[in-house]
Amino acid sequence: MKVFVTGGCGQIGSHIIELLLERGDQVVAIDNLATGRREHLSDHPNLEVIIDTIADKALIDRVIGDFKPDAIVHTAASYKDPEDWYNDTLTNCVGGSNLINAAKAHGVGRFIYFQTALCYGVKPLQQPIRLDHPKLPANSSYAISKTVTEDYLEISGVDYVSFRLANVIGPRNVSGPLPIFFDRLTQGKKCFVTKARRDFVFVKDLARCVIRAIDGVGHGAYHFSSGGDVAIQELYDAVVTAMGLPEYPQPDVRELGPDDAPSILLDPSRTYADFGKLEFTPLSEIASSAVAYFREFGTYGGYTHLKHTESK
Ligand SMILES: NC(=O)c1ccc[n+]([C@@H]2O[C@H](COP(=O)([O-])OP(=O)(O)OC[C@H]3O[C@@H](n4cnc5c(N)ncnc54)[C@H](O)[C@@H]3O)[C@@H](O)[C@H]2O)c1
Repeated sequence: MKVFVTGGCGQIGSHIIELLLERGDQVVAIDNLATGRREHLSDHPNLEVIIDTIADKALIDRVIGDFKPDAIVHTAASYKDPEDWYNDTLTNCVGGSNLINAAKAHGVGRFIYFQTALCYGVKPLQQPIRLDHPKLPANSSYAISKTVTEDYLEISGVDYVSFRLANVIGPRNVSGPLPIFFDRLTQGKKCFVTKARRDFVFVKDLARCVIRAIDGVGHGAYHFSSGGDVAIQELYDAVVTAMGLPEYPQPDVRELGPDDAPSILLDPSRTYADFGKLEFTPLSEIASSAVAYFREFGTYGGYTHLKHTESK
């Protein structure tokens, strides 16, 4: 099978590519290294890596036209500066429309997208959040611009799966609390946690599910979630344990901020119905594999998609 992966040097893209290469697929990846790292992808005879941007319409059209992939896996996203609306729209809107148009023009059979749970707003109206929850992305440049491409997919006629995700963590994770906890604990600095609970999933569990979507399972939007939420403090504790610190560094426990939802939990029932049983790795193993990665490669990031700093 031939698969074109955008954001191939990122957390999710690189893990998907590893699974595709393991089973003998041919992969062309593109990444502009905005938040990804070239060393996330080892050289492989079946892998071509293009260091460039999906915002270049002529380039995307040429690459897809030449490679003729069976599937496009679109993980590239811009988010690292909440004030940088220009690059968010270039990557997340223009880039997305370039890819969808190229998929239509060149008859690509599958399109896999990754939407943010921020599309439901920072304070979702339901708990757990169902797929029919209204889209309320007017909370950040990231959520607004990411929602555009999912909306275009809905009207495109392309056969797509959109995985709506809350917090994907593991090795190569550059955003959210995990790299921040590791960084601060390494430097002996105090961390703070809020009383929030979040829907954390392991990047490798998601990657396995994405392979099935590439192969034809599913149509439309899905939540990738274990169905259970985790307290931020549980994640903190898992990182402390994984780091093997001699004494427990007590975090500051803070009340929720005005924009912090007490819990973000996605309802995975449609995913279970269409994809069958999914496997979810325990938090302790996720934290250990992330800590091993950070020790080798550093944290590089600690980005947040929202203007205010979420629970860290
Ligand atoms: N990680 C999460 O918790 C989470 C949650 C919800 C949605 N998502 C979505 O999942 C996808 C992957 O996220 P991730 O965690 O792997 O993030 P990541 O930052 O590790 O990967 C994104 C990759 O896209 C690349 N990129 C950015 N702009 C580009 C451009 N113009 N052209 C080519 N490449 C570009 C980056 O350099 C990076 O390698 C994103 O679309 C993100 O919006 C992730």
